[in-house]
Amino acid sequence: KQSPIILAIESSCDDTGAAVIAGGNILANVVASQQVHEQFGGVVPELASRAHQQHILPVVQAALTKAGISKEDLDAVAFTQGPGLLGSLLVGSMFAKSFALALNKPLLAVNHMRAHILAHFIEEPRPAFPILCLTVSGGHTQLVIVRSPMDMEIIGQTQDDAAGEAFDKTAKLLGLPYPGGPRLDKLAQQGDPLRFPFPVNQMPGYDFSFSGVKTAVMYFLRQQTQQNPKFIEENLADLCASIQHTILQTLIRQLRRAAKDYGLTNIAIAGGVAANSGLRAELQRLSQELGWQVFIPAFQYCTDNAGMIAMTAHFQYQAGDFADQLASPDPRLKL
Ligand code: KG4
Ligand code: ZN
Repeated sequence: KQSPIILAIESSCDDTGAAVIAGGNILANVVASQQVHEQFGGVVPELASRAHQQHILPVVQAALTKAGISKEDLDAVAFTQGPGLLGSLLVGSMFAKSFALALNKPLLAVNHMRAHILAHFIEEPRPAFPILCLTVSGGHTQLVIVRSPMDMEIIGQTQDDAAGEAFDKTAKLLGLPYPGGPRLDKLAQQGDPLRFPFPVNQMPGYDFSFSGVKTAVMYFLRQQTQQNPKFIEENLADLCASIQHTILQTLIRQLRRAAKDYGLTNIAIAGGVAANSGLRAELQRLSQELGWQVFIPAFQYCTDNAGMIAMTAHFQYQAGDFADQLASPDPRLKL
């Protein structure tokens, strides 16, 4: 079928999402975020799966209603197979499988990291292949060469913390509530990025390392607050700007090297950290300097959402890449 209508479900971490796509156009994209984790300063897996159970039915119903589609009109049901939290993935996959079984529709099992990248094909301007994509989320940091929707190769990745994790963990050291990334970004806009120079871990090849930033910030703050207990609050914006600068330097350095070595000029960013205003601005600047075509998804398609799962499912449907009822969630699913 040329214009399949697909319901897609995302439940890999702490956002429950459902989207409807028809012929490659998103008709609805609904997401319910979970607030329960804020008081714990991070995602609590058991609470996440329980919240998915509460949200999934209303979220799916809202997506179908918004799209003006009845469930009989669907040509397939898609779900996030991994990577992610097992308990969270189970809720979405069990729901999708039962729904597909009851409706007697085919199933599509989608890779969440592939979907972050293919989010670029939801709206104009859509990048031309090959693309060099920097995927930066709370759980992953990957440099990927994308030759087609179904042909991707990781050329570099983090050896320890993900970029989003580095934002969240350093934000926590500054006393910012979870998730710290967006809050640190906001405060950084008022600060001096060169005020506190933190060491940058330089990795061979195109890999990344962020555990050093976190440790350096921790020791620095400990030392400074011993002398002045109010050090953090008095310097908060400069601290945020300096930390953000350090993390972005690491990302940009490897991105530039890979683009140069592979001769790629279609440059994309994806994942939650692609929402970072400093990263977006730096890429716009580099597009001028280096003649890159830079692609940054709309904000709602950067953080976890079912729209990107639907887009990927659309490509898989056309490639005939279907799953069966035995498809099970894989928390460590490879790209
Ligand atoms: O892709 P995502 O929504 O979930 C995962 O699949 O991990 O990414 C979430 C991550 C979190 O670490 C969050 O702090 C970070 O993206 N993030 C940001 C910003 N917005 C979200 N980090 C820095 N600046 C932002 N504006
Ligand atoms: Zn994600």
